[in-house]
Amino acid sequence: MGKNIVVITGSPRKNGNSFAMTDSFIKAAKEKGHTVTRFDAAMMKLDGCHACETCFKTGKPCSFDDDFNTIAEAILDADALVFTMPVYWYSIPSKIKSVIDRIYSLVIGGKDITGKECAIIVCCEEDDITVLDGVRIPMERTAALNKWNMVGEVLVPGVLKPGDVEKTDGLKQAAELADKI
Ligand SMILES: Cc1cc2nc3c(=O)[nH]c(=O)nc-3n(C[C@H](O)[C@H](O)[C@H](O)COP(=O)(O)O)c2cc1C
Repeated sequence: MGKNIVVITGSPRKNGNSFAMTDSFIKAAKEKGHTVTRFDAAMMKLDGCHACETCFKTGKPCSFDDDFNTIAEAILDADALVFTMPVYWYSIPSKIKSVIDRIYSLVIGGKDITGKECAIIVCCEEDDITVLDGVRIPMERTAALNKWNMVGEVLVPGVLKPGDVEKTDGLKQAAELADKI
């Protein structure tokens, strides 16, 4: 049966490497009969978590009512969450990190977000695969804490400029990720 997949991207480059892999994944996932809802965090109005712990007390997931509240409703309904991003300074880019931080509101609000599938698609310039650990490790730990099943990781080092991913097997790997959901 088709699943409800929420894809959250983190790059501001529409023609970039992680978007190309995202598109490849989404095409394959739709061909498999899944429903995909995509949010491009870098193009959205998103702030970080204020740690006010007033989550859901104003009738919305987050009291700071920006685009996160739209994403939050989709996350609650999702069977699978796919996070796609480049590495920025050995870590998670800020706009997608805002989304991840604010998933805190769903936890504090007592919503059951356990049992979802999760996957990541990540790229970076350097050839050293361990550079991707700056995204991979926090995402694996976040998934484990939330009791999400990490079903796949597409990790592509050595890509700098838009189009570089086409010289790798990243697009193929991203499409194959759809088989794991
Ligand atoms: C602000 C910024 C920080 C970056 N930091 C790193 C880094 O720490 N390590 C690395 O290998 N690449 C780094 N990069 C390069 C990107 O990860 C790389 O260009 C990637 O392919 C961009 O993905 P995109 O095309 O999807 O935006 C950085 C790029 C930017 C713009």
